[in-house]
Amino acid sequence: MSLPDWAEVTPARRNHIQRVVNLLAEWANTMRVPGAERDRWLRAGWLHDALRDAPLGDPVAHGPAAAERAAAAGERDRGVLRAVRYHTVGSAEWDDVGKMLYLADFLEPGRDSKNQASDRADLVRRVPTERDSVLREVARRRLDWVLRSGWPLPPETVAFWNRLVGRP
Ligand SMILES: [Fe+2]
Ligand SMILES: [Fe+2]
Repeated sequence: MSLPDWAEVTPARRNHIQRVVNLLAEWANTMRVPGAERDRWLRAGWLHDALRDAPLGDPVAHGPAAAERAAAAGERDRGVLRAVRYHTVGSAEWDDVGKMLYLADFLEPGRDSKNQASDRADLVRRVPTERDSVLREVARRRLDWVLRSGWPLPPETVAFWNRLVGRP
């Protein structure tokens, strides 16, 4: 498995994607996930930012664009496609693939600033045993950032958060 041949990514982006995939593989091993499920996680990792550096205009468009391209190229797994499509905003409809990708995309070590490394490493370690509580913490941090930026919350993000905290 590797980047799809239709990917448009810079070398820095390729490194980010590789770190996301490595983290997904690490978790899949620790959690003793069956091979087919592990492959779904890794496919989502390879695909999620494959069009991140394509000239799409809107930076939020790269998830849906990659999902459509992947489907056209033969990806049939709806959970994988949903993970890729909504990886920037979240989704209340996600299965494990979407949740694990969202975590890996945020927690891969390349995002660290100097004083965040140990905090991030702690969250990474907790994922195999406390996945849902780490997911809430990561979503809280990402939403916090959107709110502080003064940007509107996409409806998918609101639905995702409400599902995480057990509200309808
Ligand atoms: Fe992305
Ligand atoms: Fe990413």
